Amino acid sequence: MTHLSVYTDGERPATVLETEDAGEIAAVLKEIDVVLRQWPVAEGHGGSQEEILDAYREQVDRVVAEEGYTLVDVAQLHPDGSPEWPAKARAAREKFLSEHTHDDDEVRYFVSGSGIFYLHVNDRVYAVLCEAGDLLTVPRDTTHWFDMGTEPDFTAIRFFHDDDGWVGDFTGDPIAERIPDFDSIVARRASRA
Ligand SMILES: [Fe+2]
Repeated sequence: MTHLSVYTDGERPATVLETEDAGEIAAVLKEIDVVLRQWPVAEGHGGSQEEILDAYREQVDRVVAEEGYTLVDVAQLHPDGSPEWPAKARAAREKFLSEHTHDDDEVRYFVSGSGIFYLHVNDRVYAVLCEAGDLLTVPRDTTHWFDMGTEPDFTAIRFFHDDDGWVGDFTGDPIAERIPDFDSIVARRASRA
């Protein structure tokens, strides 16, 4: 289930909302032009990029037709137990862990696993924990960052309008260091369950 926490963006961020109510999450995000939708999770969520895209062909084709995306791919990262994994995980996590924007929408469908998108809009930070079944659309130019945690484990379908849409324009604002990270939010949520 998706989880949303909202923080103030000052020197000492305060939590102003924590919810797992899908309707409430969608409504709060709609106010900042971010769209969260759910697709039924397909059977068997592993395999090659083609197999994953085939499992969601109907939904993917519909979104592409509606929004005019020209590129769709699958990003995945899973712990593999190899000696290289810790460095690989760290490098992947750090890539988008600082606040940035893109000149394309950031659209992700989580096939499995999870990750948190942090949207920094109007003095608030909206931390959206996306899990299997969640399709999140972050409009272009929205300041945000993404945390996949210290042990990244996810498969996500990505949609782009152009092939350099993923390039990040970093703001230099260190705000991400002040807001609870993926591991903290997941641990806090587990302790409340
Ligand atoms: Fe991004």
